[in-house]
Amino acid sequence: MANDRQYRSNTRFVATRGVKEYRASIPEWVNESDTVLEIGCEWGTTTRIISDHAASVIGTDVSPEVIERARERHPHIRFEALDAFDVRAALELNVDFTKIYIDMSGISGYRSLLDLIALLNSYAAVLRPEAIVVKSGALKHFASRCIPFKG
Ligand SMILES: C[S@@+](CC[C@H](N)C(=O)[O-])C[C@H]1O[C@@H](n2cnc3c(N)ncnc32)[C@H](O)[C@@H]1O
Repeated sequence: MANDRQYRSNTRFVATRGVKEYRASIPEWVNESDTVLEIGCEWGTTTRIISDHAASVIGTDVSPEVIERARERHPHIRFEALDAFDVRAALELNVDFTKIYIDMSGISGYRSLLDLIALLNSYAAVLRPEAIVVKSGALKHFASRCIPFKG
């Protein structure tokens, strides 16, 4: 039963539609004191942009091949092969992330909405970042239809 001692996350979720919006959010949501994790970094293009705004950033992706390429393209940035659903592996990076960026293929459509919300809540509960910015047009659309009732 819910009560006043129940854990409630303070993490803000920011939903963006498409890569243009995902990247446009960086100057607004990342500042020079932030330590950022990007999940689904592919070749590190967005990770590199984040690195211009943050104190530090780590890019992660499930594919070791794309991580190899990201390291070649951006040798000054840390990249690790990591499956986003393995939240414990992210915890074991042993870094106090203040912001998380997520751009994972297969999780941005409407049919994946429940999986995405579960994943966001897992990262919010385990890593406790201030904000998670995610590329998901479906989440953005859903969130735009949610109205907190001022009761
Ligand atoms: C659209 S690309 C990311 C593009 C990148 N964020 C950028 O802005 O250039 C999606 C990436 O999600 C990765 N991905 C898919 N499933 C994943 C998972 N379970 N964990 C981590 N990364 C995953 C894919 O390997 C792919 O590189």
